[in-house]
Amino acid sequence: MIFWRVKSLDAILATAEKKSLHRTLGAWQLTLLGIGAIIGTGIFVLTAEAAQKAGPGMMLSFVIASFVCTVAALCYSELSSMVPVSGSAYTYSYAVLGELVAWLVGWALMLEYSVAASAVAVGWSGYFVGLLQNSLGIEIPFALANGPFAGGIINLPAVFVCLLVIGLLVIGTRESATFNAVLVAIKIAALTLFIALTLPVADWANFQPFLPLGETGVIAAASSIFFAYVGFDAVSTAAEETKDPQRNVPIGLISSLAICTIFYLLISAGAIGAVGAQPLLDETGKNLIPGSLKLAEQCQSLAAIGQQPLVCSREALASVLREIGWERIGNLLGLTAFLALPSVVLMMLFGQTRIFFVMSRDGLLPEVLSRIHPRFKTPHIVTYVTGLGVIIAAAFLPVGKLADISNSGTLFAFMIVAFTVMILRIKDKSRARPFRTPAIWLVGPLAVIGCITLFFFLPTDAKLVFPIWSGIGLIFYFLYGYRKSHVARGIGTPTGGEDIISPVRPLADCDAEDVTKK
Ligand code: ALA
Repeated sequence: MIFWRVKSLDAILATAEKKSLHRTLGAWQLTLLGIGAIIGTGIFVLTAEAAQKAGPGMMLSFVIASFVCTVAALCYSELSSMVPVSGSAYTYSYAVLGELVAWLVGWALMLEYSVAASAVAVGWSGYFVGLLQNSLGIEIPFALANGPFAGGIINLPAVFVCLLVIGLLVIGTRESATFNAVLVAIKIAALTLFIALTLPVADWANFQPFLPLGETGVIAAASSIFFAYVGFDAVSTAAEETKDPQRNVPIGLISSLAICTIFYLLISAGAIGAVGAQPLLDETGKNLIPGSLKLAEQCQSLAAIGQQPLVCSREALASVLREIGWERIGNLLGLTAFLALPSVVLMMLFGQTRIFFVMSRDGLLPEVLSRIHPRFKTPHIVTYVTGLGVIIAAAFLPVGKLADISNSGTLFAFMIVAFTVMILRIKDKSRARPFRTPAIWLVGPLAVIGCITLFFFLPTDAKLVFPIWSGIGLIFYFLYGYRKSHVARGIGTPTGGEDIISPVRPLADCDAEDVTKK
């Protein structure tokens, strides 16, 4: 009967209207918002990983991942314009597909947001270590800046940045739209400089062989580099604050994805052309798995003879610049990543705590999690609990594995969103849709097929984590949420976060008070 446990869309909307925000955002601000959330560890760090999986063909991987994100984003926009409340995919599916699916989506979103936060923290650590070493000559011992998979013990810088962000979230720090715009400007300037310095020295011979690991490698790299586009949902979750969402949400969404895609293509072309991007192979000719001890060992032996191929770098873009003689600018780019990546960690962790919070308010997770800090008015307990998980993952796992695990949850959530849009088009034709996904019967199935395909091309361990994680979620649900669910018990609680700020919305007009406002 759990499929029948749905929260009424009308009830969600009615309560959401009580707290409608000013519609102030235009297409331009939305585009900046999207770019701010998208550009992060994916391009700054995972370019190396994509090269190890696809070689120069990673350029195609960027296009494939961008396509899947674009069709998913178009579906996301329709729902977020209809149901402009927080809780995102979790709330939408609660209203349409019922409690069990909503639970699974919420549980998958934990993978998306928490593990992504850990991945970005590990990415930041690589840049931090490189910056200290190259600018100040300070060396952090390898064992203390790398987890066991890379041959170290613990990644202390990653732990540090997580602790910092957790502290900021507990005291109620948010990014303002202005701060976001400044960070976007810095990131865009740094990446433009990268392109301007690398493309002119590109050696086109470096593009051969273009597909050293075939089409399979390209799609496998697309599954991983998909991470570089995650975050665009920041645009759709801002729908309720957007002027003319029918026009501006798709413009913001498509332009931020398009701008990032163009940047990513030029950056990968620059990196490949400047230093080459051929994968490292084992003695049998098979490519070494990114994040594996074997690859780390081969990279260490190459470093000992003064070589650092792109696929070995933990600060891919900065090392490319250093490699071609722009030592200082490489350090500057490192500084950009050092400054900008913590804000991506903050956005991800923020999103996670809010989803946990909404689920707890619905009775599906223990209520203690939705307690609000008496002074800071933030959901501090959920922040500590989430933070602990994020710290442990960041301390011990490599960035690529974390990104892949995060992608598995994200792909599942996006797929459900596409289904939800299509089901609602049939079940509730007449409901007002401020934004309608164009050609839904083409875009929706493409989103579903794209997400499933990318999921199946993820590395086996990431693919296994998802069903295991979902299995644990189901046990938890039947032991706890199934009985405690407010919908099941007929408790008239808030319907999924109508009084909570949207999950990934770094805007100025969301203050900590929003969390408790009724
Ligand atoms: N797209 C974000 C990043 O690459 C999550 O860091």
